[in-house]
Amino acid sequence: MTDSSTPQGSPSSQPGPSGTLAAEGVTRHFAGVKALSDVHLEVPAGRITGLIGPNGAGKSTLVNILSGYDRPDEGRVLLGGVDRTRERSYRRTRRGVARTFQHGHIFKEQTILENVQLGALGVGRSSRAARREAIEILDRFDLLEHAGESAAHLPHGVERRLGVARALATRPTHLLLDEPAAGLNDGEMELFKSAIRSVVDDLDVGVLLIDHNMRLIFGACDHIHVLAAGANVVDGPPETVRADPRLAESYLGSMAATIAGGDDA
Ligand SMILES: Nc1ncnc2c1ncn2[C@@H]1O[C@H](COP(=O)(O)OP(=O)(O)O)[C@@H](O)[C@H]1O
Ligand SMILES: [Mg+2]
Repeated sequence: MTDSSTPQGSPSSQPGPSGTLAAEGVTRHFAGVKALSDVHLEVPAGRITGLIGPNGAGKSTLVNILSGYDRPDEGRVLLGGVDRTRERSYRRTRRGVARTFQHGHIFKEQTILENVQLGALGVGRSSRAARREAIEILDRFDLLEHAGESAAHLPHGVERRLGVARALATRPTHLLLDEPAAGLNDGEMELFKSAIRSVVDDLDVGVLLIDHNMRLIFGACDHIHVLAAGANVVDGPPETVRADPRLAESYLGSMAATIAGGDDA
């Protein structure tokens, strides 16, 4: 296998190339539900790629597939041009693909520092290196002052940033964030946005950002994909997507379906 483009050296010695993480023609059905149909998406290094769409559009399913927690029925996942579709999540993490979960996954019995350290230990860092990196990351997310506190009863804004900090401790080339900013207030949102931007700019990480907050998405992303009912609707730079009538239509379509079907949101 050759890696034609030589990506900038990542700070760690990740096996395999970085570059772009891509879904290519990905289809995933669950017992009659077409969660994804022939979906394409690219997450290039050093960029923030937004993924938006109504509830049930298939966003989390796509993150599961990109991160190796699920497999597509058809299509491929490529990392740096190499097919990794069938590789398990822990191996993909070691290759540089990290993610957060929509709900929690914080170790409540540990301190904030220990939570982030565990991320680094999980990809084989020595305990001293893990501690050093954890402190560096907590600083970036304005969490250093909370380092020694228990993670049991964290304010919401702190918990959300901790989730991202922990994923970052694996030194990813690609970071997949599934609604990381849900429930943040305006001030916390700004802190969050600048922390993500610094990660992308300083560490050349490729971020996939899913969120329902359009101010965050259109303010933070370099490129945005709209997904509805498991299919690509439109993608492009923020100004292009904002002006595209298909953006509003995709949300209206889902509202119409919700009203007709009496479905939950
Ligand atoms: N494990 C699963 N089993 C059955 N259906 C699922 C499963 N995961 C997701 N789905 C269905 O796939 C569709 C897409 O879900 P999801 O990816 O969670 O959407 P989003 O994250 O955009 O809200 C929904 O209809 C959901 O009910
Ligand atoms: Mg989701």
